[in-house]
Amino acid sequence: MRNIISIRTAFIILIILLATWGMAFAHGGKHVSKNTMTGTSYTRDILPVFEKNCASCHGSESPEHAVFIKNIDEYVKQFMGPRMDSYTLLSSFVVWPDTGSLMRNLDDGMNTEDGKPGKMYLHLGASEQERKANLELFKLWAGYWTLKDWSKISKDEMDKIELRP
Ligand code: HEC
Repeated sequence: MRNIISIRTAFIILIILLATWGMAFAHGGKHVSKNTMTGTSYTRDILPVFEKNCASCHGSESPEHAVFIKNIDEYVKQFMGPRMDSYTLLSSFVVWPDTGSLMRNLDDGMNTEDGKPGKMYLHLGASEQERKANLELFKLWAGYWTLKDWSKISKDEMDKIELRP
């Protein structure tokens, strides 16, 4: 009888040890994701800027891009751009299918062919200082700033784009 109990006790101890070991591993995993939080994040850094400066024309009332392009003139008349109010939707204007669109529209003129700012640059803020600061945030979030569209961008360049959630 004693033997049976001690086997059972040993078994329970073994389970506890395994569980603690597993938790130590899970904890280690969390440390890794904590480190990645130091980069610019959509939820923490981009979303507040988007809600303040972009959502009135690109929010939930707006049509998705595929619908928008079928009737651009009508939507533009109503000051409506394509919907971009989520991580996935906004990312689709950076990587695919509307590759580089966010960059072409937000650039301050440093990278455009005609040296003029993109059409959405003025919406980045009320003052030049605010616009520059918010452009910097979008650049950091993108991780790699190119105005190229899908036909020109290379796979190596796509790899450099970050877009942290
Ligand atoms: C006053 C309304 C308004 C505001 C505010 C606004 N936009 Fe726009 N946006 C538009 C309209 C309208 C279009 C479509 C313009 C066109 O196709 O000629 C557009 C187009 C765009 C496009 C190109 C979409 C495509 O078809 O590829 C991007 C990217 C964009 N906006 C991003 C932004 C961002 C980011 C902000 C905030 C910093 C912003 N916009 C603020 C109205 C607005």
